[in-house]
Amino acid sequence: MLENLSKLEKSKYVNKIFSNVSKSYDLMNDIMSFGSHRLWKKIFIDFIQLNENQSVLDLACGSGDISELLLKKYPYFENLILSDKNLLMLDLAKKRLKGYKTRIICNSAENLPFKSNYFDFVLLSFGLRNFSDMNKSLSEIKRVLKKNGYFYCMEFSQVNKPNFRGLVNLYYDVLPKLGSIFARNKDAYEYLVESIKLFPNQIELTKKFEYIGFREIECFDIFDGVASIHIGKK
Ligand SMILES: C[S@@+](CC[C@H](N)C(=O)[O-])C[C@H]1O[C@@H](n2cnc3c(N)ncnc32)[C@H](O)[C@@H]1O
Repeated sequence: MLENLSKLEKSKYVNKIFSNVSKSYDLMNDIMSFGSHRLWKKIFIDFIQLNENQSVLDLACGSGDISELLLKKYPYFENLILSDKNLLMLDLAKKRLKGYKTRIICNSAENLPFKSNYFDFVLLSFGLRNFSDMNKSLSEIKRVLKKNGYFYCMEFSQVNKPNFRGLVNLYYDVLPKLGSIFARNKDAYEYLVESIKLFPNQIELTKKFEYIGFREIECFDIFDGVASIHIGKK
């Protein structure tokens, strides 16, 4: 179904999905991943080494858990901007980060409202799959990064071991049913599974990064490739 949507239709559809799931977003992440998304996000943040003069964009920040982890690691860090397209998701981030010095902005990844060469790091956790124009978003990310700045991207990916891949695919088959039971929202979990299946695997995404012009690209699998972290340098 997703493949047949125009960019505008996908953008509207995805925004509606996140508006509908926003209230239960964090709880459902815990239930559906058996809590493992917390570990993945910790691994993601463990990669990042900052100093206080640098600037960070948490793109498609959702409920703000990536930024919260970053601020737990660097409690005095002040140059953090969170952005997301969905206002209800941003409300969750605002509540979560009350008390921290951050800026929270509503915008779409395809048109970032920042000047070029601004950020030292752009962090993107489980966002890229949802964008209506992946190449445009990646170009925008590269544009707003400083020269030698880093893009860290975590997304669902392709499991390496065939047996484990079979098991994970079985889980993806039942996920929409679980979504209708626990979140009363089958559509959102059908979308989740379809968007995972359509998303480029580790090699394809690395090629996309190369095409956009990122350098020194590295890829690290998590849980044998259930998710992967791609790192690119501008
Ligand atoms: C699966 S959530 C990820 C949230 C968070 N980063 C995390 O790891 O839990 C995806 C987020 O991407 C946002 N999003 C979808 N399309 C977007 C776009 N074109 N530009 C910016 N944000 C977008 C959604 O609103 C949603 O909050």
